[in-house]
Amino acid sequence: MAAPIALTDLKALYASQQEKLIQAATRVLASGWYVLGQENERFEQAFAAFCGVGHALGVANGTDAVELALRAVGVGPGDLVATVSHTAVATVSAIERIGATPLLVDVEPASYTMCPQSLQAAFGKAAAGGYGQARIKAVVAVHLYGHCADMRAIGDIASRFDCPVVEDCAQAHGATQHGRKAGSMGRIAAFSFYPTKNLGAFGDGGAVATCDADLASKVRMLRQYGWRSRYESEIPGINSRLDEMQAALLSVRLCALEAENSHRRSLAALYAQELSGLEGLRLPSTAEHCEHVFHLYVVRLAGRDSLAAHLKSQHIGTAIHYPLPVHMQRAYADRIPLAPGGLPQTEALYPEILSLPMHPSLSPEQVRSVCAAIRQWFHADKAAPRS
Ligand SMILES: Cc1ncc(COP(=O)(O)O)c(C=O)c1O
Repeated sequence: MAAPIALTDLKALYASQQEKLIQAATRVLASGWYVLGQENERFEQAFAAFCGVGHALGVANGTDAVELALRAVGVGPGDLVATVSHTAVATVSAIERIGATPLLVDVEPASYTMCPQSLQAAFGKAAAGGYGQARIKAVVAVHLYGHCADMRAIGDIASRFDCPVVEDCAQAHGATQHGRKAGSMGRIAAFSFYPTKNLGAFGDGGAVATCDADLASKVRMLRQYGWRSRYESEIPGINSRLDEMQAALLSVRLCALEAENSHRRSLAALYAQELSGLEGLRLPSTAEHCEHVFHLYVVRLAGRDSLAAHLKSQHIGTAIHYPLPVHMQRAYADRIPLAPGGLPQTEALYPEILSLPMHPSLSPEQVRSVCAAIRQWFHADKAAPRS
């Protein structure tokens, strides 16, 4: 039996930086300071520099980061926040946690990220009172799978309505568009450091990034009980702090991020080469002026379930990101407003997407083995039509 090939491999990731990670962890354990300290400040500075912004604030996770970014730009109960349905449910749950209402718009067929035309239509309907009294107070653009949403088009539309754009960069650490890094293109940005992310912690973690000093100081207060100084709450806040252990480990991980992203890109190029010409198989594309960081390598195919079952039988890990769009999940179905015209692209793509193995410790030989197994399925399929 051939060795299994995992979708992702966190043990291998740890092994690749083991010595430095242990040193960092030991330093924190001996320090006597475990939450929001020097390690956090060091990481915040390095991460802000990496993203090309003035400020980064460590928080407890990516969902909190979206919530705090929205609260910082002034979103409150009853406001509409436009975002996509084809995303991690966290994007939408963060909006609802504020008491705001998500307004879900469609995605583009090539990048699977927010469709500017659908957003424009949502703004038009909201301005005409089509969603009642509520107006769109912010847009959350999700940079999905490692590819940036079209920030110029989205920013142009939002600015006509004087509306801030929040970037959800949970899947796009280091991705660029027109030479600018994810997290530096909107008014404010949210990052997750969940372990499987391109920049992953060894537990939960997140950050809010912005060039705006006033927003940064608001998030600094919001993440810790609204304190301006210790025990003095100036605004109502929450507890969403990054601990020193995660900050120290993230500083180690950050040093490897560019090299790991570039390895992901070379694996994606190999996938594209080895999978070219297979009828009906759509490979990920990268828009002009964008640099993809392949958080996930997602192909699209009618008959995806049969291919996934074949790969499983060959001990190759796959997953579906995501099996159901948010507006079709039981918790949200029939109660979340949608953009005019509904979400036809979103509803067409979810039964067809499949994430193939992609992680920094994956080797070119393993990618070739995955591709050989896929080709085998296609050729077998010629003999027996797929269901
Ligand atoms: C697009 C997106 N937004 C937000 C989040 C939330 O991050 P976390 O799991 O750290 O709360 C995630 C993580 O799954 C995500 O993929």
